[in-house]
Amino acid sequence: MEQLSVIVESLCLQGTGNLAVSLQRPTPGEPLPEWQAGAHIDVHLAPGLIRQYSLTGSDEDRHRYHICVALDAASRGGSRYIHQQLRPGDRLTISPPRNLFALQPAKRVVLIAAGIGITPLYAMALQLEKQGIAFTLHYYCRRAEQAAYRQALSGDWHYGRCHLWYSDKGNSPRQHIAADVTEPQDDTLIYLCGPEGFMQHQQAVALAYGWPAQAIYTEAFKPAALTEQSGDNGSFMITLASTGQQWPVAPSQTIAEVLIEQGVSVPLSCEMGMCGACLTGVTAGVVDHRDTVQSEEEKTAARQQIALCCSRSHSDVLVLDL
Ligand code: FES
Repeated sequence: MEQLSVIVESLCLQGTGNLAVSLQRPTPGEPLPEWQAGAHIDVHLAPGLIRQYSLTGSDEDRHRYHICVALDAASRGGSRYIHQQLRPGDRLTISPPRNLFALQPAKRVVLIAAGIGITPLYAMALQLEKQGIAFTLHYYCRRAEQAAYRQALSGDWHYGRCHLWYSDKGNSPRQHIAADVTEPQDDTLIYLCGPEGFMQHQQAVALAYGWPAQAIYTEAFKPAALTEQSGDNGSFMITLASTGQQWPVAPSQTIAEVLIEQGVSVPLSCEMGMCGACLTGVTAGVVDHRDTVQSEEEKTAARQQIALCCSRSHSDVLVLDL
């Protein structure tokens, strides 16, 4: 995939512990590719350190991308690097925006975020406002001073309402249920973004109140796939639909590893089933899905895709559209 060169234009605090980073092209005035709310980019921070971040803010500014990164105590390197080493003027390589969490047509939208999960949902709120679609945004934070984009969210919105809920005021996501969730409505979709436990809890609450599963969209920004590998890690064969070449995948290998070993190029990024970079069509066989980027609907659709970095096969042979 074509990569883009950008420079860090600015870093600024956006709520305690969050750094908002704006990126622009090195050549002044050169536009960046268009994007829509829900999109993310891969950011190559240092050799071997590639992280996915949702784009945030308005999609109307074609000359800069905004991301916002929380300092994570359990950082695997990305958040720590951004908070401690990244400086204005640094040059970075990024991927073009990829959207696996796009807004779908609806009359009304409920956005529910926790922590830094606000980033794609803030962009969605701005997009819905622009399109004149009614929405409500619920944003859960531990304390008011930690909220990102608090001033903008607390301002006037024509088509939406934004509610900020704070755990230290007794409104943690476990204690508080948004009124919108207790009243399922037709033509309304829910979008969730936050830590995995928060998303699972919100999803379970919405389902319990009668929301259909297909009305709920989620974006995890922590790898859930690592805890979901309950399937049998047996061996199986993969076949390339174009050439008929066939190779075994041992229990200790991923499909991506086998393909790369055989000289087939695989676009890898997160390698945890989170980003969708390696999604590839499957023309025959039964996929053992272990990624978190695809919805349940996509995982059971007639035409399926497989995350080559982590998913496996329930059938003896899997034919890849390669
Ligand atoms: S590389 Fe990210 S889903 Fe496979």
